[in-house]
Amino acid sequence: MMDRAALRLILLGVFLLSATSGPVKKKQNVDIYSFYINSTVTSRYATTVITSRVANTLNESQEIQFEVKIPKNAFISKFRMVIEGKTYDGVVKEKAEAQQQYNKAVSRGQSAGLVKSVGRILEDFKTSVAVAALSKVTFELTYEELLQRRLGKYELLINAQPMQPVADFKIDVHIQEKPGISFLEVKGDLSTGDLANAITTTRADKDAWVTFYPTRSQQTKCKSCGEHGMNGDLLITYDVQRKNPKGDVMVSKGYFVHYFAPTDVPRIPKNVVFIIDHSGSMSGRKMQQTRLALLRILSDLDEDDHFGLITFDSEVSFWKRELLKATETNLKNAKSFVKEIRDRGATDINAAVLAGVEMINRHPREGTASILILLTDGDPTSGETNIQKIMSNVKEAIGTKFPLYCLGFGYDVNFDFLTKMSLENSGVARRIYEDSDADLQLQGFYDEVAVPLLTDIQLKYPGGTNLTKTSFGLYFNGSEIVVSGQITDNSVESFTTEVIAVSKGRNVTYQDTIMAKDPSDVPPENEDFMQRLWAYLTVKQLLERQVLLKGQEKEDEKKEALKLSLKYQFVTPLTSMVVTKPQEGEVEIADKPKEGGREHFDAVAVPDAAPYMSLDVALDEEMDQEVLLETETLFDVPLISLETPPIEESDAAMYSTFEEVFDSDIIFDVLPTYSSPSMQTTSPPAVQVHSSRFLQPVVGQSKPLCFDVPVPHKLRLLQDSASEFSMNGESLSEQNGFHQIAFHYKMNHLLIVSTKSISYRNGQDNAEFLWGQEKTQLDTDGVSLVVLENEMNVTMGNIGVVILSHKKDGVMFLWPAIWEYPKDVSLTGILGKGDISYEETKGSQTLTLKINNKEWKTSLETVSDYRLHSTPVRECWLVPFQAVMEAEIADFTVTRL
Ligand SMILES: *[C@@H]1O[C@H](CO)[C@@H](O)[C@H](O)[C@H]1NC(C)=O
Ligand SMILES: *[C@@H]1O[C@H](CO)[C@@H](O)[C@H](O)[C@H]1NC(C)=O
Ligand SMILES: *[C@@H]1O[C@H](CO)[C@@H](O)[C@H](O)[C@H]1NC(C)=O
Ligand SMILES: *[C@@H]1O[C@H](CO)[C@@H](O)[C@H](O)[C@H]1NC(C)=O
Repeated sequence: MMDRAALRLILLGVFLLSATSGPVKKKQNVDIYSFYINSTVTSRYATTVITSRVANTLNESQEIQFEVKIPKNAFISKFRMVIEGKTYDGVVKEKAEAQQQYNKAVSRGQSAGLVKSVGRILEDFKTSVAVAALSKVTFELTYEELLQRRLGKYELLINAQPMQPVADFKIDVHIQEKPGISFLEVKGDLSTGDLANAITTTRADKDAWVTFYPTRSQQTKCKSCGEHGMNGDLLITYDVQRKNPKGDVMVSKGYFVHYFAPTDVPRIPKNVVFIIDHSGSMSGRKMQQTRLALLRILSDLDEDDHFGLITFDSEVSFWKRELLKATETNLKNAKSFVKEIRDRGATDINAAVLAGVEMINRHPREGTASILILLTDGDPTSGETNIQKIMSNVKEAIGTKFPLYCLGFGYDVNFDFLTKMSLENSGVARRIYEDSDADLQLQGFYDEVAVPLLTDIQLKYPGGTNLTKTSFGLYFNGSEIVVSGQITDNSVESFTTEVIAVSKGRNVTYQDTIMAKDPSDVPPENEDFMQRLWAYLTVKQLLERQVLLKGQEKEDEKKEALKLSLKYQFVTPLTSMVVTKPQEGEVEIADKPKEGGREHFDAVAVPDAAPYMSLDVALDEEMDQEVLLETETLFDVPLISLETPPIEESDAAMYSTFEEVFDSDIIFDVLPTYSSPSMQTTSPPAVQVHSSRFLQPVVGQSKPLCFDVPVPHKLRLLQDSASEFSMNGESLSEQNGFHQIAFHYKMNHLLIVSTKSISYRNGQDNAEFLWGQEKTQLDTDGVSLVVLENEMNVTMGNIGVVILSHKKDGVMFLWPAIWEYPKDVSLTGILGKGDISYEETKGSQTLTLKINNKEWKTSLETVSDYRLHSTPVRECWLVPFQAVMEAEIADFTVTRL
């Protein structure tokens, strides 16, 4: 018995979301008196420093937040806070080490938080710090990126959202390009309306300056501005002069970079095959946007191009068996075909890609450039579904002869698989975001590969070493090949580059020698940039290659990437930045977030540091037990610690208090971090909505029903009020199933099953299990838990649930199955419908089902039956959620597990 049970909760982004949606007091007690963004681009390498100076105008201490958005492609390289004359610098550490420091802070009960979230182009950096009454704080964040040339231009994107009008607001951009700047344009929503007057552009031959100094009143008057000031982007686009077809070489302090983008060669006719997924999941807008994009792409083909169209679901269909010339008649016929593409069955990626390869292989390829473009929005579910097998089939069929580009539509795709498959075949994978402009994204991608100028490009640097990638399959008009490296002998006078490639029907060679000692190369204040550029490019490429490597080679490359990340203090997927704050060593961690969905670099084998939701229930001072509920949720809310006074009650009562604390309003009133309401965004970060498909068995019918439930949501899966039983599950976005399922039974039983571990407590017995162990069993007090290797049987009272642990493409998730519904128990929750029936009623055109005396439109779809380890794909009648549940989804969402 514990008589002094201190209950300590270190919480929980999730609960906080509900907290912040409560009433927020309006106070203007934070003054951002200066906000500068200073971006220097030297030879495409952009270093941006954001400096925000903030005063606490309140006569008491309060938490002040700093939140900015930075491009996904960039690496954070510095973060600093200056408070009362003292400087606090973030330090980049290996991920595991940073994690340790973070955990230590958590176990000491200090609040630890972190910084991340993902948008389409930008990432969120967010932190906060306590600032004394009437004091000031300076935040300074630096990030670096190599601007990539696309469609003939570089783009520098600067987001400005200071959260209030700022008296002294400045954006300064300085671009220095040795070959000369050919054009420069300032776009973005901050360049429109009254704000346009705040922009000045100054150009010299090799330099350009853009300043943006909006006055306070201008900051409230633009289209996207309001009482919280500006919120928008400045997009600076430019290109450089290309007088030398051999490219531009710059040398500085033992490093060089070679930019190669010749324009003196004709376009090469191309053979392009589009492989279009028209499986059921593409239905609706996706299919429509795909048709639209294809129609435009077809119009853009050149007459000497050859093209093929393949559509696939569980079957592969051809417009024509052969590649045909893009003549007017052929295009016209192809367009009619495209207009008729409709969505239907499952997804046989293997057969479709192999058919595309064969089509190209049958066609004479001499003097042309062949390209295979796969567009899909799902996993392989039909034909060959083993991803390894598909990859090896495709690799063997293509045999390095041409690239495969994979476009993953939306978040249901296994983007990891697409990335690997395209990298293995010298292409790239691109995500097409499900949005109103998806057709433009598709077309934009095509435009990038529309004009091949060179194939089989090899770049050679006799005096160079530690080179980044030097061999490229294709070079497209509007892009640029960048190679960087170290110079072997720094004392040599000259440096030679050689490029050999195949142009239209002939071999071409570009050879160049430059004077390595050209003093005008690099401005002195920026002399380290080239070394950093080299490191940036090397780390990016090493991380990218990780997916292709195995064993020792993979380890070695990972080690190298880590070494460079640490040396140059880049926050990459292998490192984290630890920010120690003034309050008694309070620690926060900044990580390179990974994109939502199942996409991830294998490089991130180190456990992802954060955000952790840590539920720390200290049963007494000595026995400090911690249940780590690990999550990769995108909600990034600082962790907060709060202590309730010790309670002198029985263990059982403790849990009810635990519940009360969660439910009470008081908890949210004492949240100290949010005392600065004027500066916070209370809405949760935008999360792409994605759904999980549930199978509803129907007795006496061959086809079950199925329905989709949008995730991420915390869902009430099963509840029996009479026996005080409930089971709730939480999904992550873009993932199948659940990553965490919680069981509550009677007053005091709490079982939390997550993909990482299983923890059970009932006030007396506390137990932890791990997946993948030998059979373990625990029987107590009406509860029986049996943990098998990848399955767990839970019995609580007369309710039995099986939790299966599935692994798909390396990502683990959970799925609950109920094989027997107890009699005479009225169960609720998404899985609560033990029996349901339907009748088919044939309308004139569409099929309808009569369920619970109501008619519902339906279509024949497929569902993966995760109630079985083999995950068979079954046909089902897809109906709206409401048809089965007779209620709205909101009735099944819970705010906490
Ligand atoms: C911007 O950065 C450059 C280079 O570091 C520096 O010379 C300049 O003073 C900075 N401008 C501002 C406004 O901080
Ligand atoms: C803060 O200001 C209020 C009124 O403006 C005053 O009553 C209070 O004593 C002040 N608190 C401190 C700590 O100075
Ligand atoms: C390459 O693109 C430029 C414009 O970006 C254009 O002027 C040029 O004609 C293109 N080259 C070929 C071969 O199409
Ligand atoms: C280009 O070079 C390769 C080998 O270097 C040779 O096999 C091929 O015939 C050459 N092509 C032309 C068109 O000269």
